[in-house]
Amino acid sequence: MHSFHYKNGSLHCEDVDLDALATEYGTPLYVYSSATILDHYRRLAAELSDLDCLICFATKANSNLSVLNLLAKEGAGFDIVSGGELFRVETAGGAPGRCTFAGVGKTRAEIRQALEKGIYSFNVESEAEAAQISQIAGEMGRVAPVALRVNPNVDAKTHKYISTGKSENKFGIDFASILDAYARTAALPHLKIRGLQMHIGSQLTSVEPFVEAVTKVLPLVETLKSLYGIEFFSIGGGIGIVYHDSLASGDQAWWSGHEDTTLSFAEYASRLLPLLKPLDLRIVLEPGRVMVGNAGALITEVLYEKRGTEKTFQIVDAAMNDLIRPALYEGYHEVAPLREPTSDRIEIVDIVGPVCESGDFFAQNRSVSELCAGDRIALLSTGAYGFTMASNYNSRPLPAEILVSGDQAKVVRKRQTHRDLIAGELIPD
Ligand code: LLP
Repeated sequence: MHSFHYKNGSLHCEDVDLDALATEYGTPLYVYSSATILDHYRRLAAELSDLDCLICFATKANSNLSVLNLLAKEGAGFDIVSGGELFRVETAGGAPGRCTFAGVGKTRAEIRQALEKGIYSFNVESEAEAAQISQIAGEMGRVAPVALRVNPNVDAKTHKYISTGKSENKFGIDFASILDAYARTAALPHLKIRGLQMHIGSQLTSVEPFVEAVTKVLPLVETLKSLYGIEFFSIGGGIGIVYHDSLASGDQAWWSGHEDTTLSFAEYASRLLPLLKPLDLRIVLEPGRVMVGNAGALITEVLYEKRGTEKTFQIVDAAMNDLIRPALYEGYHEVAPLREPTSDRIEIVDIVGPVCESGDFFAQNRSVSELCAGDRIALLSTGAYGFTMASNYNSRPLPAEILVSGDQAKVVRKRQTHRDLIAGELIPD
């Protein structure tokens, strides 16, 4: 479901006029739709209701407290990758007992913190890490719940930077040696083997790699169940979303009618349920992008038009520090003017930010309706890995974030000030 649509000639998020919002709170501005987030969570949960399923939202996709709180109230668990994320989840009302802790480089302090809080499982990526967790748990007089992450060596057919399930990737333990790794891990004194985890990549646009990976790993799951009594199997995240779509001008709700995932929840469930149900285990999912990606937009204003000999540039007030996906992954984000175009005049432009890097662009050679200084546009599908990957590069304050619910818009993170930029910095005497 998408909640961005034109109403009375103006782009809205749910029932909130985005141009009015930008006038009130300034640009660049991240805006999220709570209706979309809730709809995605509820529909995925409904499709999988036949399973004992724990949906652990991948916090790294969007860790604003208000977003985590929305999902916590729905009963979601959380997949975390740092002590900072665990702190956020708790602060937002999430239950540590429903958190899985992923990542190849957990520090001693993070392991301690997670043990103190009582997380559901450490998803362990190497035997060295298992030994470390066991040692720390022993020091604390605790038993640490763990799952090993298997690398199934399956091609997720996604961008190379977000593909994680091949042998050449740094993630998980090789499929060929995982049983031996379990045997050695099980022999460690302060661990309890709780499950098996895998995650093959992000932005998967077909169900096939999921099916291939689950099918490959199923016999291993059965073996682990009988050997160690594991209670869960996590199939990770990775469901892709629609980034490309064409603006049907004049259409009141141009998103409506579009399937909002490249791979529908129904297809995902119908192909995976028959494989997973017979296991009679808890199935953990770690979706990030698909929960929040299409729920967010980055609103920015055109500062200048610059006509070069080869290109026309629309220079906007957001930059790669606010949204790095185009620079990092050549990520595509739809551009929607906040005022619905009234003419058919199209121009081909690059939409670029003010940062001193050629990689600072949001769109290249893109056909958009004619823009001029002062016009505002929305960069769509930026609710996942947008704000969470933002930085202060070029000493640019982080944008504000707004959560919309119906006709209500609440500031859920204030825009940073210049003072915020230097907080904590010192000039030595
Ligand atoms: N579980 C694990 C272990 C992960 O590493 C990830 C994402 C997820 C779950 C959630 O995956 P999702 O459902 O969101 O696809 N910054 C990149 C994406 C990086 C994904 C990293 N891991 C981007 O903007 O495309």
